[in-house]
Amino acid sequence: MISRAAARHAFWKLGFMLRTGAPAWSLCAYLRCNALRRLSGRSSPDGTNYEEARDDFRRYLKHLTIESDWFTDGIPAILRAVDIAGLKERDALNCLEIGSWQGVSACFFLRSLGQARLTCVDTWEGSDEHRNGDAASPQVLATVEAVFDTNTSAFSGRITKRKGTSLSFYQASTERERYDLIYVDGSHRSDDVIVDAVNCFKMLADGGVLIFDDYFWTYYEAELENPASAINAFLRMKRHRLEILSFDYQLIVRKRPGGARREQA
Ligand SMILES: C[S@@+](CC[C@H](N)C(=O)[O-])C[C@H]1O[C@@H](n2cnc3c(N)ncnc32)[C@H](O)[C@@H]1O
Repeated sequence: MISRAAARHAFWKLGFMLRTGAPAWSLCAYLRCNALRRLSGRSSPDGTNYEEARDDFRRYLKHLTIESDWFTDGIPAILRAVDIAGLKERDALNCLEIGSWQGVSACFFLRSLGQARLTCVDTWEGSDEHRNGDAASPQVLATVEAVFDTNTSAFSGRITKRKGTSLSFYQASTERERYDLIYVDGSHRSDDVIVDAVNCFKMLADGGVLIFDDYFWTYYEAELENPASAINAFLRMKRHRLEILSFDYQLIVRKRPGGARREQA
């Protein structure tokens, strides 16, 4: 039986999606994914237990310096999407992360995908919520980059650090750079999220997986300033090139091939 509080929260989420411009097809995908999510947490079609993998990674984190875990709840959905997209079968994976903080998500990708190289883009100056003291103390913020370096040192051969804003990273990237998996968890202001969405989509290989964190985040008072409004605008723009693999607090999509010019008659 679903509790009254859970039902109220579920209705709030649907209302939030409508107010922030979620297209009807994404609402359907959200409802479908959430019915399936209860099953997917338990086991995959091939019997892999994603929750076990999440718990194993949580044990690994105990050996690192971690102030906050904002990531591991999403692990079962990410692993399931990685399996659906067949990423583990590829010989080499080129991965990109926008927003690394102390390195929790980076360590997860590098540890779970042994054949992956990961580029981490971050200012290591924190987002609004860190600088305002809501999500991190000044002491934690002051040491965040050094902590990231220490936490990820076990993977130094497969990690590339790019310090700066994501916008400066896109501007410096070559036209041909392509990634198989991209995780977007940088600035959560809708203005920045739309820039990340459009640029990351461009840099995503056909068949690649794009993960947006914090869809239901409501830090900014005006609902439209939060990530959802930007993600929804992106969904409307790129519907024909997207397949939703998972949709809850994180939205995970796969890029369909396409984008060719129409033949002139
Ligand atoms: C929520 S944290 C990332 C958490 C991390 N993925 C994890 O799992 O622990 C957001 C990060 O984005 C970074 N950031 C904020 N604005 C940015 C921007 N415009 N470009 C690049 N990074 C940014 C912050 O410095 C912060 O480290």
